[in-house]
Amino acid sequence: MPVTCVVGLQWGDEAKGKIVDILTAKHDIVVRYQGGSNAGHTVVTGGQSYKLSLVPSGIFRPDVKCVVAGGVVLNPAALLEEIDGLTARQVAVGDNLIVSDRAHIIFPWHFEEDRLLDKRLSGGEAIGTTLRGIGPCYRDKVGRVFAVRLGDMYRADFRQRIEHITQAKNDILPGLCGGAERVRLDAAEIHRQYSDYAERLSPHVADTTVYLLDAVESEKNILFEGAQGALLDIDHGTFPFVTSSNSSGVGVSSGSGVPGRYVSKVIGILKAYTTRVGGGPFPTEQDNETGQHIRDRGNEYGTVTKRPRRCGWFDAVAARYTARLSGVDVICVMLLDVLGELPELKVCTAYELDGRRTTRFPSHVDDLRRVVPVYETLPGWQQEITDIRQMDDLPENAKKYIARISQLVGRPIEVASVGPDREQTIFA
Ligand code: IMP
Repeated sequence: MPVTCVVGLQWGDEAKGKIVDILTAKHDIVVRYQGGSNAGHTVVTGGQSYKLSLVPSGIFRPDVKCVVAGGVVLNPAALLEEIDGLTARQVAVGDNLIVSDRAHIIFPWHFEEDRLLDKRLSGGEAIGTTLRGIGPCYRDKVGRVFAVRLGDMYRADFRQRIEHITQAKNDILPGLCGGAERVRLDAAEIHRQYSDYAERLSPHVADTTVYLLDAVESEKNILFEGAQGALLDIDHGTFPFVTSSNSSGVGVSSGSGVPGRYVSKVIGILKAYTTRVGGGPFPTEQDNETGQHIRDRGNEYGTVTKRPRRCGWFDAVAARYTARLSGVDVICVMLLDVLGELPELKVCTAYELDGRRTTRFPSHVDDLRRVVPVYETLPGWQQEITDIRQMDDLPENAKKYIARISQLVGRPIEVASVGPDREQTIFA
């Protein structure tokens, strides 16, 4: 039975939500296993567009169970708002949504920390986080002493824990900004608010680790939905300009508790070009008219933060690295239509570092900053392709472009996407 994983192979925003939405029809369970409400998935279904952040994309199919696993960091207010928004649009959210009691909870002090610390990276360049408290919550998870998991919110000592942590955070936070700001978090108010969230979420809370282990052992079809992209992976991405979780394929097991050996297929999602939000090196960035053209045609503005995304050419060195890292079997090339007006297209096939040509993706951010991309130029197709539904009907130059991407990444193409709608999908 298929256990499939969908993972982004660039810096996030590869349109994973669309592929997950298509695949949900063949799966019993859809699982989010890392990240939090820093993620933004757009699903267009029945002519309507929905923006999801924490709720797995399977929510639009009533017979699919949607699991938010323990590796996710949970902002309960954001989750409840999303549930309310879906319910208001007649999307049923009941026992089809299951949330792990192991998920770590984002509190107001995490937002404060995100804001105060993002500017303080040595060297002065900000990570440019989404300011959703993601990094600080994961930091407390690893640090343990100030961590609160969803399951803790139903325990008798919850009030005491909140009082203890609030007091400590009120002491610590001003130090993060050299005392420039006073921080007075109110324990009683936070306890009242979070008890309310806990009560509203209680019908959804379960031990999802055991739920998923039971599911794989009874051969259910499971779809793991990665958030962000592999280049933002905390361990294997462009550190420190990364997110705080394992956003490559390696995160499935730690985030969900399901051993990697059960995953039978990994689908890597790539844009036909590259984008990045926030700080950090981006070798193929086009901070020029071409970049602006891609941004306008691709509507490259953040789903969550609305920030304009940085845009550039397809980077095959990076994509080949992340396809290997995530154990990718096949790739989907998304937003191919966005390139339709450009007379020629460039693909980065190698880097030059200190005068030497390499196809190895550097492990240190300083090296990545210094690489000079080596480009191959391919002719554009200069034609609208949004109504095409068969590979054979694509213009020759579009076929050649995706074939070259496939060759360079070293993986076969399963899908080419030519528009946001479910129907605008070409299967190989
Ligand atoms: P954080 O995840 O909010 O800590 O942000 C860390 C970095 O990851 C920043 O560069 C963000 O812009 C980036 N990031 C986080 N989530 C996403 C996403 O869903 N898409 C694209 N970039 C993201």
